[in-house]
Amino acid sequence: MKQLVLLFFIGLLAIQCTKTNQKKEPVTGTVAENAMVVSARKEASNIGIEILKKGGNAFDAMIATELSLAVAYPFAGNIGGGGFMVFRTNNGETGALDYREKAPLAASKNMYLDEQDNIIPGKSTLGAMAIGVPGTIDGLFKVHEKFGSLPFSELIQPAIDLAYKGVAVTKKQENRLNKYRHYFLEVNKSPIIFDKHWKENDTIKYLALAKTLERIRDNGRDGFYKGETAEQLVKTVKILGGIITKEDLEKYKAIWRKPIEFTYKNLKIIAMSPPSSGGVCSAQIFKALEPFNIASLGHNSLKAIQLITEAERRAYADRSFYLGDPDFVKIPIDTLISTTYVSKRMANFSWEKATSSKDINHGNIIGYESDETTHYSIIDQFGNAISATTTLNGAYGSKVFVTEGGFLLNNEMDDFSSKPGEPNMFGLIGAEANSIKPEKRMLSSMTPTIVEKDNKLFMSLGSPGGSTIITSVMQTILNVYEFNLSMQEAVNAPRFHHQWLPDVITLEPKGFAKDLVLQLQEKGYQINQENSRIIGKVDAIKVLENGKLEGGADYRGDDAAVGY
Ligand code: DON
Repeated sequence: MKQLVLLFFIGLLAIQCTKTNQKKEPVTGTVAENAMVVSARKEASNIGIEILKKGGNAFDAMIATELSLAVAYPFAGNIGGGGFMVFRTNNGETGALDYREKAPLAASKNMYLDEQDNIIPGKSTLGAMAIGVPGTIDGLFKVHEKFGSLPFSELIQPAIDLAYKGVAVTKKQENRLNKYRHYFLEVNKSPIIFDKHWKENDTIKYLALAKTLERIRDNGRDGFYKGETAEQLVKTVKILGGIITKEDLEKYKAIWRKPIEFTYKNLKIIAMSPPSSGGVCSAQIFKALEPFNIASLGHNSLKAIQLITEAERRAYADRSFYLGDPDFVKIPIDTLISTTYVSKRMANFSWEKATSSKDINHGNIIGYESDETTHYSIIDQFGNAISATTTLNGAYGSKVFVTEGGFLLNNEMDDFSSKPGEPNMFGLIGAEANSIKPEKRMLSSMTPTIVEKDNKLFMSLGSPGGSTIITSVMQTILNVYEFNLSMQEAVNAPRFHHQWLPDVITLEPKGFAKDLVLQLQEKGYQINQENSRIIGKVDAIKVLENGKLEGGADYRGDDAAVGY
C-alpha cells in the first residue's frame, strides 16, 4: 500500500514537472522559409498559400483567402459585410483600403429610436434594418485592379470549388450554430442552411453561394452589385422590412486611404485610419506608453496593467467624441496622436490610485487642423505584406440570409451611435461624430496593422473582438517587442481590456492570478473576470532575425498558420 502511495506521489510530481517544463519552453508557431498565410480556417489559409506557390503575390492571396473565408467561416467571413486592409509592399510603400459598409440612402439619424426617443432594442443588431451596404466585393476588385498579378477568375475559383465540395463543421462551429439557431429562425421567413442541427465533422455544401461566386467571377463587381445577386439581396431585405435599394448597391465604392503611421521607440506602426478608430486609438495608447520602460515592469504585472489601462481609458474617451467617418466629420488626427497632446492627457496618471472614468472626458482640442469579425495576415515570397480584417459585425451579422444567393448580411449599422451617450453592442458610447447619415460609414475598431522595426518589415497582425480589437493588437505587439515572446506565445498570452466606459478592466478568465486581481482592486480598479470571455483572436506573422516567418494562429479559434 505504502509503495502505491509513493508511486502516486512520484507520478504527481512527474506531471507537475512536465507542466512546469512545458511552461518554460518557448512556444514557437509554424515557421516557413518563404511565405505565410494565417487565417481563421485552415481551408482558407491553404487556398491563400496555394495562390502564392503559383507565383501570385500577397494581394492575389488576399482575394483568394477572403473569398474562401466567406465559404469556410460564415460566422464572420463574408461577401455581405465589409472590412479594412493595410499593406506594405517590398519597396516600403504603404497604404490602406476601406471597404467598410455604409448607411443606406434611406437611413436617418433617429432610425433606431421610438417616439419617446428611446432605443428600440435589437433594431440595429438583428434583422433587415441592421444591415449596412456591403463593401467586401468592391474592395476585392479595387485590390485586384491596383495590385493583382493573376486573373481574378483564378483567384475566386478555389472558393467556388470549396463551396461545391463543402466544408467540415468543427466543434467550435457546431457550438456557435447551436447558440445562434433561434435567431436565424426568428429573423428569416423560410428555413436556411444554418438552421439544421449540424454536428462536428458534417460537411456543409454551399451550392447557392457557389453560384453567386460564379456570377462574380463572370461579371466582375456587377456580379454582386447589379443583376441577379443584387435583385436577390434587395428582395430579401424588402420582405424582411429593411431599406437597402438597388441604388445603394450600385453606388457603393471602396476607398483607398492613407493609413495612420506612427513611431514607438524603433518601431513604425502602420494601422487603419478612420472610419476605423484602430490607428488613432493605437497611436494614442503607444504614445502614452512610450516614455516608460515597460519591459522592466514585467509582462501582465500590476504596474504594466495599471499603465496600459490608464492609456486605454484616455484613448477610448477621445474615440467616442472625436472619431467618425472622415468624409463626414473633421477629425483632428495630428493633434490626437501627437506626443504633446497625449502626454498632457497622461499628466494626472498615478501609480497609487486608479483614475475614475467619471473624471475623464475627451481632451480639449481648440481649433482643428486643416463575437464577429475575422482577421488574416499574409506575407508573400516577394516580401509584400497585407493585414486585413473583415466582418459581418455580430456573430453571423444581422442573421438575415439571402437564401437564393447563399449568403448572410451584416448588422454593421449598430456600430453607429444610435443615440448620444447610449452604448452599442460592444458597450461603446458615441457622439455626433458617429451619428447616422445616409451614405456615411460607421466607426469601426478594426485594426489591421503592419509593424516595421528599424525600417524593415517586422510583423503583420490583427484581430476580431469589437472594441477589444485595438487593445488585443497593442498587447500582442508589446508582447513581442517589449517582453520578447515568440509570435505564437505573444498570441497565446492572456489579455486584458479597458475602454473608458464601462469603467472596468476585463481580464480573460484564465491567466491572471487572484493576488494580482486583489492588488488591482486595492488601487481602485473594478475587475470583470468571472463573466468575461476570451478577448480577441489574433492572427499574426513575424519576420524572424534569420528572415524566416513565424506564424501566430490564435488557439482561441480554429485558426491556422500555413507557410512554405
Ligand atoms: O468594426 C467594428 O469595430 C466591429 N463591427 C467589429 C466586430 C467584431 O469584431 C466582432 N467580433 N467579435
